[in-house]
This record gives sequence, structure tokens and C-alpha cells, in this order.
Amino acid sequence: MVAACQRHVDVPPAVAASAPPAYLGAAYAPQAQARVPVAEVAALGREMFFDAGLSASGRTSCATCHDPHHAFGPPNALSVQPGGASGDQPGTRASPSLRYLQTLPPFSEHHFDNDGNDSVDAGPTGGHTWDGRSDSAHDQARLPLLSANEMANGTPSAVVDRLRRASYAPKMRVAFGDTIFEHEDAAFKAALMALEVFQQTPSEFYPYSSKYDEVLRGKARLTPQEARGLALFNNEAKGNCASCHLSAISADGAFPAFTDFGHIALGVPRNASIPANRDSSYHDLGLCGPMRTDFADKAEYCGRFRTPTLRNVAVRRSFFHNGVFHTLDEVLRFYAQRDTQPARFYPRDAKGVVRKFDDLPAAYAANVNTDPPFGGRPGQRAALNDGEMRDIIAFLKTLTDADLQR
Ligand code: HEC
Ligand code: HEC
Repeated sequence: MVAACQRHVDVPPAVAASAPPAYLGAAYAPQAQARVPVAEVAALGREMFFDAGLSASGRTSCATCHDPHHAFGPPNALSVQPGGASGDQPGTRASPSLRYLQTLPPFSEHHFDNDGNDSVDAGPTGGHTWDGRSDSAHDQARLPLLSANEMANGTPSAVVDRLRRASYAPKMRVAFGDTIFEHEDAAFKAALMALEVFQQTPSEFYPYSSKYDEVLRGKARLTPQEARGLALFNNEAKGNCASCHLSAISADGAFPAFTDFGHIALGVPRNASIPANRDSSYHDLGLCGPMRTDFADKAEYCGRFRTPTLRNVAVRRSFFHNGVFHTLDEVLRFYAQRDTQPARFYPRDAKGVVRKFDDLPAAYAANVNTDPPFGGRPGQRAALNDGEMRDIIAFLKTLTDADLQR
């Protein structure tokens, strides 16, 4: 793994090399010696990222759902963002922040950590999206560009048509060769690559400029409340947050990503505000489907979603894969009281019995994690009290990058 603090950018090898970039496909061999310096490709990717002209509606750009002023996450408190052919079709999942994904490993079913405990199989880990179904940022960008409820282009050829008409089309010819638009496949891949290279710009995507980073550098100090919050965050019997949301500098010197990228089921409540959920037989089960299809027969994976980073989490206004909660206070309460006060989070059935994990068919309830801060029975004392929850939230606010502090 690349040490994050070295600010190293993993540019696909083809980008740094001169033409013809193998990445664009063997079929594409521009006559002119196309050169693709990283800075130019990143600048092109930036223009594409903000270009609503790349969507079928003409209204949706990547930045609509991944706003730079919100850590490249959603700009509002909606659980899911609208997109699609007319720009008003709601999706089914919360838009994640695109910051701090540069150390995300490709998806693997059996993850062995290279820092220490390397004999322990951590299980399904990594991959882009909440269910890890996409292996790289360029692969990932295909999904929103084509998907019916995001940018709704349908086919790569429709995307290339829009690129041809874009104000930056001449720059694409300079970067990728005069004949790039005559080769649809190569032109589509060039756009995906430019978007990926843009997302590897350290100053925009992994600045490590939060107060907590300054504390790790020995240049700032936590307040007493923030320090109590960090201790509770790390304490295995209390918050135990750091067991999944890693908070310490790793053995190889990398600053923490606040996630181990593991796929875990927390049993978050069903979100009635997502239109797809009006169909009571529809369930977003993460790793086992329906968006991902390769593990449809792995019952033990149902309900699992990839652990997100908590960097910049305080600038979000919707939380978890379905955006069901809208404040950190609600999130902390869910962690502390899911098992001791389930009626706060889940509906009662006709007999008045609380139906825990109401967004999972009952057969998968056993997949849900019960380690601290979860656990206990109704009426028992929760792992965290109100003051402790406030302390953890104070600590989470130290994870906001300098450009987003207001
Ligand atoms: C309509 C809203 C919307 C638009 C537009 C959109 N995205 Fe996303 N993006 C999402 C959602 C929702 C997810 C999570 C998808 C999932 O888990 O299935 C996501 C996931 C991602 C991820 C994976 C992040 C992670 O944590 O693994 C990347 C990278 C990404 N988007 C990049 C882009 C790029 C580049 C564009 C423009 C080409 C774009 N997105 C356009 C909503 C959007
Ligand atoms: C067992 C692993 C695990 C532990 C322990 C854990 N989390 Fe999480 N966390 C996750 C997973 C997995 C998700 C995403 C779940 C989903 O969306 O269904 C998540 C999501 C979150 C989110 C929502 C972030 C977003 O972008 O939507 C917050 C906030 C959060 N966790 C904070 C905490 C805090 C604070 C603690 C300790 C009190 C904690 N977590 C303990 C695994 C864990």
C-alpha cells in the first residue's frame, strides 16, 4: 500500500507514458505523437467533472452529487440525489464523499492486513461503491455516466457524442491525438481516465489538512472534550469505532483513512423516503445484491456495505448507505442504543413487537454485527451515555479538512 503521507499519486502507467497509450486500447494508434502530461489530463478531467453537458438531462454533472464544497459528497440533506434523463429521478443510495479513496484496495473476499496481524482473514474488503463492485475510479465513472438514474447516457457512444461537442474537445485532441474522436472506444476510455486522474489530485482529494492531521504532526492539540472523544472512539469496550474506522498512523507511516474498507452489516433502518422502498419486496442487500450480482447466492454477505471514511463526516447531512439519518447525533444514538432501545429506530409489527433490522429479510439478521458499541438487551445500559456521544462528535469534527471548515 502507498504511504498516504508521501502524497504519492498512482497514475495509471499509460498516462505517464507517451503515445499510443496502451490504456486506450490496441485498436487506437494515433498518427500524431500524442503526449499526455498528467497535469493536462487532470485539468481535462476537472472540466469533465463539472460538465453538466455530459448528462442526458444537461443538468447533472459529477459535482451535482459530489460537491467539492462538501468533500465531494452530497451538497444537501437529501438521502439520495436526483439524476436521470430529466434530472429528477432519485437514486437508491447516498452519494459518498470522493475524498481519501486513494488507498482503497481493489475488492477482495479475503483481506489480509499487511500491517501486523497478517494471518487474520478480515473478510470482504475494498472496491469502489458501497458494495465494492467496481475496481477502479475509471471503471467506476462508467456507472454514473451510463446509469439511468444518474447521468443517463445509456451507451459510451452517447457520451462520446457529448464529448465531441464539449468546449474542451480541442484539448482532448491535443492530449490524446487528433483522431481520438474517430475511435469511440478509445475516446470513452480517455474520458474515464481523465476523470480518474483528476480524482487523484492531492490538494483536492486528499489534502490531510484537518485539525486531527495537525495533531498527528505534533502541530496542534485536541481540546479536553475532543481528547475524551478520541479515547472513547478507540476504547474497545466503549465506542470501539477504531476497530473499523482506523484512527492511528499505520506501521508503514500512512495517516489513517478512518476506515479499514471492510464490508460489514450494521442493520441500519429502512429509509421510507427512498422511492424504491415503496415496494416492500425490494431490499438493498449490498454485497449480495441487487446492484452487485456475483454474490447473489452468498447469504452470509447479505446486508453488508463497505465501511466509509469518517474524514469530513461532519460536513455530511445524510449518513449510511441509504442516507437514513441526517445528524451525527442520530448516528451515535443508533450505535449506542440499537440493541438496548431498538424501538427508537425500528417499527413495531401488528402485535406490537419491535421488528429489528427492518431493512433486511429476517433470514439475514444473523449477519448483523453485535460487537461494542452494539450489544446488550432492551432496557440494559448502552455502551455510551449522552455526554460520551457528544465527546465523540466533538472528536469527529476535528476530521474536517481546512478548506471545508466554516
Ligand atoms: C445522481 C448522483 C450522482 C452522480 C451524477 C454521480 N455520482 Fe458518483 N456516486 C453516486 C452514488 C449514489 C454512489 C454510490 C453508488 C453505489 O454504492 O452503488 C457513487 C459512487 C461514486 C464513486 C465510488 C466512491 C466510493 O466510495 O467507492 C466514485 C469514484 C464516483 N461516484 C465518481 C463519480 C464520477 C466521476 C461522476 C461523474 C462522471 C459521478 N460519480 C456522478 C452518485 C452520483
Ligand atoms: C464493526 C465495524 C464498525 C464499527 C465498530 C463502527 N462502524 Fe461506523 N460504519 C461501519 C459501516 C460498515 C458503515 C456503513 C454501514 C451502512 O451504510 O450500512 C459505517 C458508517 C458510519 C457512519 C456514516 C458515514 C457516512 O458517510 O454515511 C458514521 C458517522 C460512523 N460509521 C461512525 C462510527 C462511530 C462514531 C463509531 C463508534 C461509535 C462507529 N462508526 C463504529 C462500520 C463500523
